Amino acid sequence: MKKVEDYVRSIPDFPEKGIIFRDITSVIQDPEGLKLAIDGIQNLLKDVDFDVVVGPESRGFIFGVPIAYNNHTGFVPVRKKGKLPCETISEEYALEYGTATIEIHKDAIQPGQKVVIVDDLIATGGTTEAAIHMIERLGGEVVKVVFLMELEGLKGRERLKDYDVDAVIKYP
Ligand code: PRP
Ligand code: ADE
Repeated sequence: MKKVEDYVRSIPDFPEKGIIFRDITSVIQDPEGLKLAIDGIQNLLKDVDFDVVVGPESRGFIFGVPIAYNNHTGFVPVRKKGKLPCETISEEYALEYGTATIEIHKDAIQPGQKVVIVDDLIATGGTTEAAIHMIERLGGEVVKVVFLMELEGLKGRERLKDYDVDAVIKYP
């Protein structure tokens, strides 16, 4: 029987030389791959009590929404700059390649809410760290951060050492 990692496609030198891109399109286009991925992330949350899921644009939406639906919580998008229509707060951060600014609606998280962050992948941890800062600025408590994939060599987990971080697939 295939495992979820068997559905991930690895593309060398994309989008820049030296990066091995871990592609989730090959996972989610297959019904069994999609199910294994969502069930794998859900399994990391089986003992976690939370009120809301936050997912960063865009791959965090793909995995975050089904997790929110499964757990009868809402889903809050963290978006790239300039996409959200109401009042926002923002954070700038560095990626494995390039820099970006992300935003969240100011009214999306209520003080004291227990938040789980879901994304497809952790590389440097910059995106997650920026999302955590925004959630905490709004008074939320990040109780767990879960990924389909972790690129351990980029040490994102060290950057998030004060948080409970887990991943379904770990690449050394
Ligand atoms: C990717 C990925 C994570 C982030 C991981 O998103 O989906 O959100 O990078 O990198 P980090 O741990 O170094 O921050 P990207 O910003 O490329 O956007 P996309 O999902 O729209 O492709
Ligand atoms: N986001 C940041 N680094 C990545 C990688 N190596 N593969 C896929 N998505 C990424």
